[in-house]
Formats: sequence, structure tokens, C-alpha cells
Amino acid sequence: MDDNYAHTDHHHHHSGSATMSMSDRADAAEEAAMHELEELVATKSSLFHLADGEIKVDTSQAAWARNPKARFLMGADPRLPQMPEKPTLVDYFRCRFASTNHLLQSATHALKGGHPEKVVLACLLHDIAVVGFIRCDHGYWGAQMIEPYVDEEVSWAIRMHQALRFFPDESAGYGYPEMYVKLFGPEYNPEPYIVAEYERARNHKWYMTSRLITINDIYSFDPNAKPMLDDFVDIIGRNFKQPKEGLGWDNSPSAHMWRTLMWPTRFL
Ligand SMILES: [Fe+2]
Ligand SMILES: [Fe+2]
Repeated sequence: MDDNYAHTDHHHHHSGSATMSMSDRADAAEEAAMHELEELVATKSSLFHLADGEIKVDTSQAAWARNPKARFLMGADPRLPQMPEKPTLVDYFRCRFASTNHLLQSATHALKGGHPEKVVLACLLHDIAVVGFIRCDHGYWGAQMIEPYVDEEVSWAIRMHQALRFFPDESAGYGYPEMYVKLFGPEYNPEPYIVAEYERARNHKWYMTSRLITINDIYSFDPNAKPMLDDFVDIIGRNFKQPKEGLGWDNSPSAHMWRTLMWPTRFL
């Protein structure tokens, strides 16, 4: 891990150059020794502590009590895969999403079903909040993350799939998932805000787009299938407006969410 820290230490390059004078070399050695005493602190957001059942905030005071030379990450966390300077959606798939098989399988299923690219993209992205960001209200988080970059129908469908998952539509060939009985118990009933969202979605012109996410939202339709992200790069290219500055460095209303995913332990 120390190697990794050194790797991202852009500001203090002093690796042996033949042209260094004696005193330069002494300065460099001294500076290197000083940096060995520094502790680079990757702070956890309070939300991460809440997930551990703790109400807690990481402060500089606590870290300085351990090591007065502690410094705080204001950029990339060296423990995580390095993101390119101008990351694309595909880079987030490769470097940040914890699991992509479910997304790829759902998208593959939609593709084989002959659905439009919009639907395939919606299936490919429907659970990005679960695999990359925050589980609770994942439909809303996921939709918000992609909203500036996709057709409104795609983000709407992703937002609504969270509610539609709980309501069967036999005419569309969708039943209540047996998995949910196992996950939440037979007595579980969706909260009123989910019911209300379903009521709104049911009569919406894009209802079927969101319903198609739930129909293709299959946990293991073929355990041996190994779908590849490469199969969807062209569909992403045609349907996801990749910002030229890099996803997160653009000025969209959700750019900060991508930056947070890129640098999740940044101090501020
Ligand atoms: Fe979902
Ligand atoms: Fe899903």
C-alpha cells in the first residue's frame, strides 16, 4: 500500500536524477524521510459509518492526535483502481462497479428479445446504484446519475422500475418475484410512497419501457452465460451522451455523483 501512495504522490517527485547537486540530493532525502512520517488518511463519509450502524463523523482532529503529519486525501484513493483523466461510463463499469454480471445479463436478455436500444440501455443501467453507489432507493439514485446523459424515457424507466418490481402485470408476463418472498418475507408490503409511484407509473405513456426492465430483470437466466461489456459499447456510444470533459468533470446536475464515485474518500 505504501507503494501505491507513493505512486499518486504527484507533487513531490524526487527520484534519482543524475543532474542533482549534492545539496539537492540531501534535500530530497530529507523530504522523503519527512513524507514517510506522513499518514495519508482516506476519510469515510458519515453515510459509510451509518451503514456500519454508527453515527459518527471522521474529523481531522482524531487523525492528528494519532499523527500530527497526517494529510487528507483530496483526490484519488490509491487503494482503488486508477480512473483515466477523462473517464467514460465504460470506465466506471470497469473500475468502480462491484458487479456487472446482473446488468449485462439483463441487457443481453433484452437484446435477444429484439427490444429497441433504449430498452437495452435501460436494462444495462437499471441497477448501477446498487452495484456502484447506494442501495436504498436505487431506482431514484440510478436515474438521477444518468439523467443528463440519456433520453428522458430511459431515466424515467429506471426510476420507476424500483416500484414496478413489486407489482405483477400478468398481461405483460410479469409475476411477483419469488425471490422477494425469500428476501423480504411473505408479509412484506411496499411502503405507501412505492404504491403511489406505481399508481402514477401505471398510466404513464412510458409504462411499458419500465415494465420491460422488470421483465428482463432476471437474477440468473443462464448461470453459464458470460456476457461481455464489449457487446454493449456501441449501444452506449449511440445512446449515452458521454461528456467530452469526462464523466464527473462536466457541469451536469449529476456530475458530482460521478466524482464521488471516482473519489469516494475525498475529505471535502
Ligand atoms: Fe433494481
Ligand atoms: Fe435488477
